Amino acid sequence: MQKITAAITAVGGYVPEYKLTNAVLETMVDTNDEWIKSRTGIQERRILKGEGLGTSDMVVPAVQDLLKKRGIGPEDIDCMIVGTVTPDMVFPATANIACDKLGAKNAWGFDISAACSGFLYSLTVGATLIESGRYKKVVVVGADKMSAIVDYTDRATCILFGDGAGAVLLEPSADSHGIKDSLLKSDGSGREFLHMKAGGSLKPASHQTVDAKEHFAFQDGQPVFKAAVKGMADASFDLLQRNNLTGDDIAWLVPHQANKRIIDATANRMGLDPNKVMLNIERFGNTTAATIPLCLWEWEKQLHKGDKIVLAAFGGGFTWGATLVEWAYNTE
Ligand code: UT7
Repeated sequence: MQKITAAITAVGGYVPEYKLTNAVLETMVDTNDEWIKSRTGIQERRILKGEGLGTSDMVVPAVQDLLKKRGIGPEDIDCMIVGTVTPDMVFPATANIACDKLGAKNAWGFDISAACSGFLYSLTVGATLIESGRYKKVVVVGADKMSAIVDYTDRATCILFGDGAGAVLLEPSADSHGIKDSLLKSDGSGREFLHMKAGGSLKPASHQTVDAKEHFAFQDGQPVFKAAVKGMADASFDLLQRNNLTGDDIAWLVPHQANKRIIDATANRMGLDPNKVMLNIERFGNTTAATIPLCLWEWEKQLHKGDKIVLAAFGGGFTWGATLVEWAYNTE
């Protein structure tokens, strides 16, 4: 029997309208535009404003965008996987909630918690479902409402994060183009440097945990930075090597957008021309699981059938990795 390859056949995205600029952050914490831009590359981020809105409210328009482009309806979706660390609720899964809001009546779904690598992990799992031959249409989403877990009095983290959602549709490839290889890693000892202390079974929510601000994301930036530079660059380099490719063979690097300096180091290690690197960190900040699919969403028209692209991420866990994709379609 011929091996089935999972191909990305459509991309959708959504970012909230409100722009939180560096100038506004200067009025909230002791920071400045120059520091933020030079240390991270970020100028503004999008924030989901309004009562009663959660991550699923960004997943829904992102998936609707994708369905419209592909000319199919929500009932055609077999399965939805949402990579997120900011689910609407601890349970049920945001995928379940989003399927209900979309009217995806025939889909089953679940969330994957892998922080900034959430989309890469979800994509690999989704591709495996397609490769098994059992499923024909799997929607993979990376979505985070980071503003829900950011302490806007902590200048070390509040300048970094934004909200957004990006989604891709996976289908059996008409030819051999699609998800070709994936190199994923995790190391739980990294939890010391990037985590949310309370709200889980280890430390359930209490008045004390709220008073101690333990429901916000905590990051010790420097050790994460060092591990991210090494992890993302090594995974991308090793992925190229084991597929007998060099930077010249790659049309685009689609990196997780945590810090421009980490991205530059990864491109450099791959021997890649900086013009082949997708970058939207200056406008969206770090949207955690959404950064990579939001890049694909913005660059979709510049991608051509057969283009080899490398998706690379590093995040809390630690989790990291790189995925090799042969783009499967031209727009138009
Ligand atoms: O996406 C998940 C994975 N996350 C990452 O990949 C993030 C990795 N880490 C980073 O990108 C960087 O570590 C940060 C951007 C978070 C921080 O940059 P840094 O160059 O590592 O700065 P730092 O934490 O070493 O801080 C340097 C100085 C400190 O002051 P002192 O101790 O030298 O006086 C900080 O207090 O900068 C200060 N600082 C700030 N100053 C102005 C920290 N935050 C700010 C701020 N504005 N917002």
